[in-house]
Amino acid sequence: MCGIVGFTGQRAASGILLAGLRKLEYRGYDSAGIALDAGNGGSLSVLRRPGQIAFLEDAMDLPDSNMPQSATCGIGHTRWATHGPPTEQNAHPHTSQNGLFAIVHNGIIENYAQIRSILSAKGYVFRSDTDSEVIAHLIEDAYKGDFEEAVSMMLEQVQGTYGILALSSLHPGTLIAVRKGSPITVGICRNETLIASDVSAIIGHTDQVIFLDDDDILVATPEDFHITAWKTGPVSRPTTTVDWEPGAIEKGGHPHFMLKEIYEQPEAIENTLRGRLIEADGTSKLAGMQMDARELANIDRFCIAACGTSYYAGLVGKLYLEAFADLPVDVQQAAEFRDRNPIIQRNTCMLAISQSGETADTLAALREAARKGATTLGICNVVGSTIAREAGRGVYLHAGPEIGVASTKAFSCQVTVLAMLAILLGRGRRLGREAGQTMVKQLADLPDICRRVIDASDTIRRVAARYTEMHSCFYLGRGYMFPVALEGALKLKEISYIHAEGYHAAELKHGPIALLDKSVPVVALAPDTPGVEKTLANMQECRARSAPVLAVVTAGRRHGADCADDWIEIPPCPAFLTPIPATIAMQLLAYHIADLRGCPIDKPRNLAKSVTVE
Ligand code: G6P
Repeated sequence: MCGIVGFTGQRAASGILLAGLRKLEYRGYDSAGIALDAGNGGSLSVLRRPGQIAFLEDAMDLPDSNMPQSATCGIGHTRWATHGPPTEQNAHPHTSQNGLFAIVHNGIIENYAQIRSILSAKGYVFRSDTDSEVIAHLIEDAYKGDFEEAVSMMLEQVQGTYGILALSSLHPGTLIAVRKGSPITVGICRNETLIASDVSAIIGHTDQVIFLDDDDILVATPEDFHITAWKTGPVSRPTTTVDWEPGAIEKGGHPHFMLKEIYEQPEAIENTLRGRLIEADGTSKLAGMQMDARELANIDRFCIAACGTSYYAGLVGKLYLEAFADLPVDVQQAAEFRDRNPIIQRNTCMLAISQSGETADTLAALREAARKGATTLGICNVVGSTIAREAGRGVYLHAGPEIGVASTKAFSCQVTVLAMLAILLGRGRRLGREAGQTMVKQLADLPDICRRVIDASDTIRRVAARYTEMHSCFYLGRGYMFPVALEGALKLKEISYIHAEGYHAAELKHGPIALLDKSVPVVALAPDTPGVEKTLANMQECRARSAPVLAVVTAGRRHGADCADDWIEIPPCPAFLTPIPATIAMQLLAYHIADLRGCPIDKPRNLAKSVTVE
């Protein structure tokens, strides 16, 4: 989810590139860089800085930056690290060995390790930990005087997803862009061309854009451009007029980052799963754990510590690890974990779950567990974050940047990782190959199930419209739906300011039922999962106290009209994965209620995206 931008024209490129990067900063913000061609046929000039784009801008302004400020052709990148921490040498652009080619890349080159060893054997020296650097060296290696042909030959070698922009001092004024799975947009202006990963970097310059298709190769100069479908021949792509407001574009056309991130979940889960499922063996591969079979077999207990939404993902993880890997699991809110002087035994593995990787309580819990000798693992989204670094090993979500304060796609991807972890550990214990294969296939189908929940967004909004005036409500669930009830209630209170409590469906009658009346609705999580019949009985108890019931059920399974006043249906789904589509439905419910109430969804009062105080 990095941002990339390129410019070739008659004007100075640096200011245009930096302004474009600022617009793309929401996509990735851990380091940034630009490469400029001074037009003298020598090495390209590159400047990169870890941290915000402001740091790069400051560095550009320094007299000793040695950047050719009047250069009219260049490329820029704002990174959201996947391979290698956010350092200067891992920041893009990456140059080839001879310094005459530079690239920026958005995506993941899956076979980079293999290419790296082939190029190393040929004498290429790598200066970063990234998967992207191979692209620059491959172009240099293939170059025989034709830049486009060299890029095309590079594409023969790489597997994975990419949006790439390439620049060469041997071809002044020329930019080459290719895409497969990562977007590339071309802005058509008079005597200049802008290329970017999304229109937000282009929109101030022109509203006429072309979106490349997968496998397109674009060659652009200030005056002209042509597109070739790789291995097929010249193609023309339609020009689109963009009428988005600049502010909205940064949210990809969505009114809020939260909605954008809810909608991104199928793709985010695909990224989390990519390359990690081994269907033949019915297991998963989580290389970042750096544990061999013996180490995995030695784990005899898990401790999970996390905060907020990540904690609720941990509660789902506990159910997985107990059910599929026969391992006892203790899940605690991170602050409580530390305060309680936890018992860490010899083979206890501590799992710190954190989207940001910076949450102070989770970090403190991790340190406490490490101090007591636990094996520590991090499940983080932000690469190179403190928890990821201090845990030393773990699993990255690859969910892309999550900007909305209320966490959405991180939850789905955390639960996805925990399912893969339970399968991996289970296969070393009593989970049979066939059962593992079935689960792996079911995981692979999960993104499509989530797509169908998102397709129902308008229907959920119509239901939401009937619940905008409530002052208080309960979310009920049991088994796999208990953590969903907690997370559903959290989403609603975070962004709509309506008081909401998540409760175990069986616990309602031990107190909270006293609060029910016609003004206190109950959201009952009752899709087809073990124990659902009992939840249906609890729904009747609520109806008997006049509480309006909104039931979340599997499509076509309404269990009789007298059970509920309103319904949200989710697609049929294997029970263990149901927490994900059910939670997406709850995210949409909370979002639409908050939106209809006119709440500031992306900036809820008093909340912070990353809580770095204890
Ligand atoms: C804050 C955010 C929540 C998030 C929690 C834990 O409270 O507002 O959305 O779930 O922190 O954050 P983490 O980055 O550790 O997952």
